[in-house]
Amino acid sequence: MLGVVILGSTGSIGTQTLDVIMSMPERFQVVGLAAGSNVDRLERQIREFKPTVASLADTAAANRLGSRGLEGTTILSGQRGILEMVQRDDVDIVLNAIVGAEGIRPTLAAIEAGKDIALANKETLVAAGSVIMAAVDRYGVRLLPVDSEHSAIFQCLQGANDKHLHKIILTASGGPFRQSSLEKLRQVSVSEALNHPTWDMGGKITIDSATLMNKGLEVIEAHWLFGVPGEQIDVVVHPQSIIHSLVELTDGSVLAQLGVADMRLPIQYALTYPERLPSSVAPLDLATIGKLEFEAPDTKRFPCLELAYDALKMGGTYPTVLNASNEVAVEAFVNGEIGFLDIPRLVRDALDNHQGVSSPSIHEILAADAAVRRDCATYLRQRRS
Ligand SMILES: NC(=O)c1ccc[n+]([C@@H]2O[C@H](COP(=O)([O-])OP(=O)(O)OC[C@H]3O[C@@H](n4cnc5c(N)ncnc54)[C@H](OP(=O)(O)O)[C@@H]3O)[C@@H](O)[C@H]2O)c1
Repeated sequence: MLGVVILGSTGSIGTQTLDVIMSMPERFQVVGLAAGSNVDRLERQIREFKPTVASLADTAAANRLGSRGLEGTTILSGQRGILEMVQRDDVDIVLNAIVGAEGIRPTLAAIEAGKDIALANKETLVAAGSVIMAAVDRYGVRLLPVDSEHSAIFQCLQGANDKHLHKIILTASGGPFRQSSLEKLRQVSVSEALNHPTWDMGGKITIDSATLMNKGLEVIEAHWLFGVPGEQIDVVVHPQSIIHSLVELTDGSVLAQLGVADMRLPIQYALTYPERLPSSVAPLDLATIGKLEFEAPDTKRFPCLELAYDALKMGGTYPTVLNASNEVAVEAFVNGEIGFLDIPRLVRDALDNHQGVSSPSIHEILAADAAVRRDCATYLRQRRS
């Protein structure tokens, strides 16, 4: 039995991870569950999966959870609670599905305690990739991708020699505004942006998919996971989301991984790797799908993708700044404070104003992250007044 901790258990990836675990109870023991503030959902999960520990980032919410008579489960709180949970001796693997840079410290703490990581929280690698990958090497743990594109690449590369990898090709659905004009993009509403055509996901990643920032974050994530420079990572828009990504090898041969758009597949592969077990995911029926389409991404209408390539090229703390400013901008858009096209503007300004630190330590990364959030908040306050 593998002892599992799920960070972000109440979210889209977290709940699907619990679905996967429920389908193979003989393999996994849920040791810990952690979330932000969703007391009711976490309480239901605790009653069902009976973890030894559970934690909420919000201390008041954790106190409420603690008063619900959940015998057998110790309730922790704040970031300290998560750090304590991931380092327990009875934990073998930590699935990190927290949203945003909040996931950095728990990932690092788990690696330092020798735990394998199943990583959905791409922001961790975007903001702190150099530090995380150095820690993975140093502590000899496995970092298994959960993101469907990176799982696809990981699967395509099984048995391949690293030196034969010539190019990574990430597929993108194109989001809800794939065919929208710039004029339309100026006026899109939050609910339109939250209406993803192929994937049912949490709010932040859904907005990132609409701006194509999600694909930009994934380019940086792929760079760290597979050790490939940005020039060798392409993006192609594939609206059906059936091909999850491809690799081109030195001889020009291209390998792809296909499947229905269901995150339970890459989650299961990360948790059971290197085994392949039957799953409840619907089989792929290509004849019914009929045709698969591809087109180049339009970085004029979706500048976030190019901003991510730029940040990766500049290196150091620039990807940290890209990520932090994007998190603030997405939240401001969802709160109705800025328009859809203001998201790339705010990110571009943050990158332009940043004095980069090359080869940053974790402290310099966290400091850069905090400084950008402060600057963006000041800018948004001034805009309001
Ligand atoms: N959804 C997908 O299909 C998908 C696919 C690929 C990659 N990902 C990545 O996976 C991550 C999670 O995405 P999601 O769509 O599952 O997001 P989501 O539905 O918004 O869920 C986020 C989870 O994080 C928890 N959380 C928020 N702040 C926290 C904190 N400070 N400490 C502990 N937990 C915290 C939330 O708890 P509360 O519920 O209490 O707020 C919730 O459980 C993101 O990095 C995303 O890019 C998602």
